[in-house]
Amino acid sequence: MSLMAKEHNAINLSQGFPDFPIDDTLKNLISKKIHGDIHQYCPASGHPELLEGIAHIVEKSYHRNVKADKEILVTAGATQAIYTAIQALVHPGDEVIILDPSYDCYVAPILLCNAKPVRVSLGPDFMPDWDSIQNLVSHKTKLIITNNPHNPSGRTWTEKDMNQLELLLAKYKNLHLLSDEVYEFITFENKHLSVHLYESLQKKSIIVSSFGKTLHVTGWKIGYVIADEKIMNEIKKVHQYMVFCVNSISQHVIGEYIKEVGLKGIHGLYQKKRDLFRRGVEKSRFKVLPCEGTYFQTLSYEGISNLTDVQFTEKLTKEHGVAAIPVSVFSEHNQHNKMIRFCFAKENKTLEKATNLLCKI
Ligand SMILES: Cc1ncc(COP(=O)(O)O)c(C=O)c1O
Repeated sequence: MSLMAKEHNAINLSQGFPDFPIDDTLKNLISKKIHGDIHQYCPASGHPELLEGIAHIVEKSYHRNVKADKEILVTAGATQAIYTAIQALVHPGDEVIILDPSYDCYVAPILLCNAKPVRVSLGPDFMPDWDSIQNLVSHKTKLIITNNPHNPSGRTWTEKDMNQLELLLAKYKNLHLLSDEVYEFITFENKHLSVHLYESLQKKSIIVSSFGKTLHVTGWKIGYVIADEKIMNEIKKVHQYMVFCVNSISQHVIGEYIKEVGLKGIHGLYQKKRDLFRRGVEKSRFKVLPCEGTYFQTLSYEGISNLTDVQFTEKLTKEHGVAAIPVSVFSEHNQHNKMIRFCFAKENKTLEKATNLLCKI
């Protein structure tokens, strides 16, 4: 879609990356740090100051104490974190539950383990359908992958969902949880219910986050995994031979940044953009679906066209000048018809231009 947007000079609200500048403090820190002696390998788990910083964030946000040196691993983005965790835990013949629509980096690493992805559709409102999930979990299920706040829908899980997850993990001894929480700091009216908050889940969970998303530096590709020491030791064995360690400059810069500045103002920034986008399309013929987190807004075009979502996004890009992503591409068997995803992590003037165009349809 990004290529098509470029080719047709359309406003690109398809791919999930911000188009506004990063914090000046981050830029200044890079300039300062680049002259220091920080250009050789970091310890494999991560730069100690960054590991301490992550432990502090988790303590402050969720009141969970994680051991910086034993339970945290810095990775080359959440993508590497997810790949590495799956390679470490999943074996030939195992099954892994994925909740569709789902982010696109879950299936391939499962197949590369000669294991079986079992794709379960979320309900029509993009919330988990616990009966369907329970019907597909068995003694063969090694892992369930969850994503909260959810890309592409922007929905967030409730206390009830988290309790269902606890029950499921308690019932199956062999079952582990890979919780993709890359948008953990981008939630709006509701508080993010991280797996960190649930003691009964902590021992069996691998929680993944991304500084790329949190600090809108997606091109730095830096994320982290948090898991109980026993699981982490297995994950580290894969990490060692995959990358050994993540680039040192971004680790030093982010380590100092989170110590000096912390993670202030992130959800406020995106809440304003979400509200601007939603207000902008309020009077359009699109139906505006709930958005409780992430920087994605889903719209339904049910009242506008009978085209498939792939055809509709193509038309939208080529004829109306706005690029979006069809929700069906995130599913094996699409159950969420006539819905498309827009990324609102963009300059306000870009969002205003795009919503004006959407109102003309
Ligand atoms: C749900 C989800 N998980 C993981 C990732 C990958 O994050 P990273 O860029 O840190 O690898 C993304 C990126 O869009 C995402 O939306």
